[in-house]
Amino acid sequence: MTTTTCSAPAARALKEARATILDGVERAVAALLAEERARWADDAPQALVLLDAIGDLVAAGGKRLRPAFCASGFLLAGGSPDDPAAARLGAALELLHVSALIHDDVLDESDRRRGLPTLHVARAAEHRRAGWRGSSERYGENAAILAGDLALTYADQLLAGFSRPVLDEWSRLKSEMLVGQFLDVSVAAAYDPDPETSRRIAVCKSGHYSIHRPLTIGALLAGRPDLAASFEAYGRALGEAFQLRDDLIDAFGDGEITGKPAGLDFAQHKMTLLLALAVRRDARVRALVLPADGGIHAADADELRRLLTDSGVRAEVEERIDHLVTTAVDVLHQAPIDEDWRGELTEMAHRVAYRDH
Ligand code: IPE
Ligand code: IPE
Ligand code: MG
Ligand code: MG
Ligand code: MG
Repeated sequence: MTTTTCSAPAARALKEARATILDGVERAVAALLAEERARWADDAPQALVLLDAIGDLVAAGGKRLRPAFCASGFLLAGGSPDDPAAARLGAALELLHVSALIHDDVLDESDRRRGLPTLHVARAAEHRRAGWRGSSERYGENAAILAGDLALTYADQLLAGFSRPVLDEWSRLKSEMLVGQFLDVSVAAAYDPDPETSRRIAVCKSGHYSIHRPLTIGALLAGRPDLAASFEAYGRALGEAFQLRDDLIDAFGDGEITGKPAGLDFAQHKMTLLLALAVRRDARVRALVLPADGGIHAADADELRRLLTDSGVRAEVEERIDHLVTTAVDVLHQAPIDEDWRGELTEMAHRVAYRDH
């Protein structure tokens, strides 16, 4: 792999400029939610439950990867850290992400996110505690459908008045993520073990909206459409690596560190690259996972983890991540960006691909 170094003062200056934008992102999200809270407090105080649930999810943390890539694309393209449009764009990306997470946790029947109960689970519990009418589960999911749509609407609202190229990129980002999410659930349902399809899902449901499009949209805001091809090549490779790491963390990671359940992809019969390779190659894995009519149960999960490791499939996914990181970093060497940013994006590639949460 080619390596790039960035002088320490230059690296510090880039990070400080990005931190300025990221502080603005936090303020923009908080201001929007506070404004909406004030708007609904008298008219429909029930709405505050949804607003506070969105706010709690933002406040619970998260890595802020999408705003960070967007701010990086913007700054390396010549944008100013004090431009409020960059903070608004980053805030829109984080709210879109929150919307995706709220809906994803319904799709995946997950009960924890960022260390908190998921929105649909928390609202169902409220329904149960209050002894309200109807199904508590359905109520929780109704709340999550609407909260997710609300967060997405706020994201769109933040982009009002942006240029056509930015809005077009924004539309692509949203539709790719939604189509990707449908591919994820439909391939899980069909349980079709095709590694190529699994890789395509990783890029579509997650890679584009997490890395490729945030970088590009940042550059478009700064008026540099010429960077789109390099960011697409970097973002496709690193976006796939990002999701393959997420899949490995789901299979082998620690729910205490991630703040979300471990082993959920097994239970939800997700056809990740790990599973697709293992089902194709290993009769013991087929015997374990194919007869099940639902997901893979907790009792079989340890055995499956052992087989994924013994069969070499876990190592193969790690090698694929290494290859994707090398590809992404090599793209940077052909890209029309300055040396310091090349170093910074190289460092980000490593952080994203080799994280534990
Ligand atoms: C989780 O994204 C959902 C995926 C696209 C895999 P992140 O891993 O970026 O989650 P947060 O924002 O840090 O919580
Ligand atoms: C989610 O992928 C992708 C989106 C949120 C669009 P996952 O289902 O793998 O994400 P986690 O593991 O629940 O965070
Ligand atoms: Mg999920
Ligand atoms: Mg999912
Ligand atoms: Mg996952």
